[in-house]
Amino acid sequence: MPTERKEAIFELGFDSVSWKMKLFHCGSLLTDSMNKRPCYRNFVTLAIFLSMAFLVGGPFLVSDYKQKLLGWGMTDSFRSKKGNLCESQCKPSGSEPLPIGIVSSTTNLEMRPLWDSAQSSQRKGSEKGAKSLLAIAVGIKQKEIVNQIVKKFSPSNFTVMLFHYDGVVDEWRDLHWSDNALHVSAINQTKWWFAKRFLHPDIVAEYKYIFLWDEDLGVDHFHPGRYLSIVEREGLEISQPALDTSKSEVHHRITARRRKGDAHRRMYKFNGGGRCYENSTAPPCTGWVEMMAPVFSRAAWRCAWHMIQNDLIHAWGLDYKLGYCAQGDRTKKVGVVDSEYIVHRGIPTLGGSFAYKTNEETPGPLTQSEIYSSGMGLRSRSSDSEDRSALHSRSSATDDRSAVRTRSYAELIIFKRRWDNAIANDSCWTDPYPEPAEKNKKPAL
Ligand SMILES: *[C@@H]1O[C@H](CO)[C@@H](O)[C@H](O)[C@H]1NC(C)=O
Ligand SMILES: *[C@@H]1O[C@H](CO)[C@@H](O)[C@H](O)[C@H]1NC(C)=O
Ligand SMILES: *[C@@H]1O[C@H](CO)[C@@H](O)[C@H](O)[C@H]1NC(C)=O
Ligand SMILES: *[C@@H]1O[C@H](CO)[C@@H](O)[C@H](O)[C@H]1NC(C)=O
Repeated sequence: MPTERKEAIFELGFDSVSWKMKLFHCGSLLTDSMNKRPCYRNFVTLAIFLSMAFLVGGPFLVSDYKQKLLGWGMTDSFRSKKGNLCESQCKPSGSEPLPIGIVSSTTNLEMRPLWDSAQSSQRKGSEKGAKSLLAIAVGIKQKEIVNQIVKKFSPSNFTVMLFHYDGVVDEWRDLHWSDNALHVSAINQTKWWFAKRFLHPDIVAEYKYIFLWDEDLGVDHFHPGRYLSIVEREGLEISQPALDTSKSEVHHRITARRRKGDAHRRMYKFNGGGRCYENSTAPPCTGWVEMMAPVFSRAAWRCAWHMIQNDLIHAWGLDYKLGYCAQGDRTKKVGVVDSEYIVHRGIPTLGGSFAYKTNEETPGPLTQSEIYSSGMGLRSRSSDSEDRSALHSRSSATDDRSAVRTRSYAELIIFKRRWDNAIANDSCWTDPYPEPAEKNKKPAL
């Protein structure tokens, strides 16, 4: 609140009339045209207002005005006017003491040569805005699978970033693309933990699409270039490649590949619980993708990043809310691409989406879908800290995986309650997807 939406109130005294103008400073952003517009409008309004003041006010007013300005140490009215207009400039928060031209508010993950080479700068220019980013959480045990994935993403169109959750980095060096990739290492951290910390929207602002993938994916029938051309044509802001049902662990029917068409946006289920019809409007019937291989547009990622909670590293529950980031109607802008598809191997690793496995050796707590369908995640409890202590005591469970699972489940409850609290607290927010009284929540499988 203090920095993001600063208000500057200008008062110009006109004998009896006092004019007030509110100018809203832009937050940090730049590419967001939505954020920029209001500032621009204010600038124009102020300019018009000032010219009117001079015209209407006449000599007396002008000299009065001038005097006030002189009091601020200005020497001529033209420069003073400029001074006022400048207050309306959109500067990223924190950069106000700097001249606007020097402010670099976004960056990228591109490596730079130590000395200038005409070739590299030329290449850079021609690629600007066209690149996308592939970010994968990896462990050395999946080296070969990851190698297959990365090899599909041509270096001229994709920047590759590996999140090493096992701390092993050097053993990747022999892969020919390794030196061109960015390697981030942090022990036992999840994909969402990395993404929150290293894929800030201002850092990845230049990438058109962001692939935030698990490592246990087979890409024999996947071509990133064709995938993105479909995504663009279909207007999908959040998407995933469909799963080859014969070889994949399929947890949610909507992710299953269809043989007809390039993409689909909803699933149907006419019997049992959690039915999905043509008129269904909510996840997981529509407006939903699974979290093992999401692809975000730049704008969708900017929104999604804000939704990721710093402490909820398994991100359970996030998938059901991602539709809010779809830059429009989630039933149209979220979808599954069928003609470029993947195999989900379901390898239980920190990088893989083990949390969504349904047929585990240990019975363990409920799967996410079960939680959603039973409404268990929706039961209210008194506070976050209570939940945290609950998950703490439960995490002494024998095996790591079931402990992780337990924690994921607890995170789901926390996330759900935070969301509900946020809604209750934000009187300016209206829900574009109000939930119908009768919930249509139960996913397939
Ligand atoms: C990179 O992207 C451009 C434009 O989408 C495409 O024409 C080109 O074939 C791609 N390059 C590779 C190596 O895939
Ligand atoms: C990371 O996780 C593994 C397996 O759960 C555990 O054995 C190891 O001690 C952890 N390492 C650290 C530094 O926490
Ligand atoms: C949606 O369609 C189904 C079957 O066509 C129907 O039974 C149901 O009442 C419809 N729901 C709404 C909210 O229109
Ligand atoms: C509003 O937010 C505060 C602080 O984040 C929280 O303690 C409170 O419970 C919230 N109120 C509602 C109605 O959710």
